[in-house]
Amino acid sequence: MAAPAIPPIRLGLIGTGLAIEKLHWPALCGLADRYVVTAFTDSSAGQCRRFAGYSGVDPALAVAARTALLAREDVDAVLVSVPIPHLYEVARDALAAGKDVFCEKPAGADAEQAAAFLSLAVAHPDRTFMVGENYFYRDDLRYARALLDDGAIGRPHLMAWRHAGQSVPRAGGFTGTPWRQRPRYRGGVHLDFGVHHIAQIRLLCGDIARVHGAVQTANRTIDAPSDLTLNLVFTGGAIGNYTASFPDIPIPPEPNDMRLYGTEGVLVLGGSEAERRVTRSGADATTHTTVFRGSDNGYRAELADFADAVQFGGRPVGSVAQSVANAMVVQRAFDSAERATALTLDPVPGAGPVPLWRPRGSAGLFDGLPGQRSSSTASFAA
Ligand SMILES: NC(=O)c1ccc[n+]([C@@H]2O[C@H](COP(=O)([O-])OP(=O)(O)OC[C@H]3O[C@@H](n4cnc5c(N)ncnc54)[C@H](O)[C@@H]3O)[C@@H](O)[C@H]2O)c1
Repeated sequence: MAAPAIPPIRLGLIGTGLAIEKLHWPALCGLADRYVVTAFTDSSAGQCRRFAGYSGVDPALAVAARTALLAREDVDAVLVSVPIPHLYEVARDALAAGKDVFCEKPAGADAEQAAAFLSLAVAHPDRTFMVGENYFYRDDLRYARALLDDGAIGRPHLMAWRHAGQSVPRAGGFTGTPWRQRPRYRGGVHLDFGVHHIAQIRLLCGDIARVHGAVQTANRTIDAPSDLTLNLVFTGGAIGNYTASFPDIPIPPEPNDMRLYGTEGVLVLGGSEAERRVTRSGADATTHTTVFRGSDNGYRAELADFADAVQFGGRPVGSVAQSVANAMVVQRAFDSAERATALTLDPVPGAGPVPLWRPRGSAGLFDGLPGQRSSSTASFAA
């Protein structure tokens, strides 16, 4: 006799803005056997109507206030997707109400609140509490991490990554939200978007022991530093540089590749969201490129990991501690910039090396996930 199916998690949405519309709702649609939305709320009634309109979720499931949503017995877990300054208070109330919580990143609007996020997780050991970090779940990044774990480029000794891209308010886009233009969180765009890059760096290069940061303010549409450059020393001994710039003027197309230099080869991660590329070269100047298309940047996988933790136990890869570790690199970089000195990073309790996520019960990296991969070989020998 077949085992009875586990009923889907009854999910409440708190905040139904852009991240839900563009990222989480498409992912939830692919996880209909794991989740069913039983209630949703947003401080804007218009956003509630908009969500009901495009999702097809019954408008009668809209709840006027989050306290009312949290009091409902037909909500097992909540997805918190409100502006960064409000994430903590909403996650705290949801845990106090006995819900499992998937909270959007970053873990803390500043270092003090990052510590409060950690304490909140410690205070609720009986709940699944996750702070989303989709980059831990991206197919191309997990593939690259598996290559590194297999020693594909020998001992990585240097990381070099420059990311530059225009950022101006665009209606209907993330940059169009007023709370991002006048950020009430330390780090501005580097805590909001750059924290994903830090997650990528930690996933692939390991933990960061020391950081020397500098910042510049050169975007007239954002009331916070647009440029950040970091010199990094990793706990494993490798060194690196990460530079991110979000100017308000258009800039010529840039590769924005991350390069990892090892004793036996080089790994280059590039491409756009539509087509990610991982290229490995060896000492014989041969390159092996794998192209990833149709992947969703890890949103479905992170929600699958959360559902696994809620339904089967265990700890998700995107733990609160891991997200705090990401956020603290940004905070420490800003401390370093303000003090004009290199600073060490304290290990975050419960974090450590980022585990490599694989679909539950699978030895492979991509089982059951959307997306296609293709590989090719070339040479850059003279
Ligand atoms: N993982 C990612 O790639 C990614 C991408 C974008 C945004 N995010 C995160 O998602 C969150 C939301 O970002 P967004 O771009 O959707 O912002 P948004 O402004 O588009 O949406 C936020 C929504 O929350 C509502 N809201 C504000 N305060 C509220 C409260 N106290 N209770 C209920 N609703 C409230 C607003 O009315 C709005 O509809 C942020 O924390 C952001 O960091 C993550």
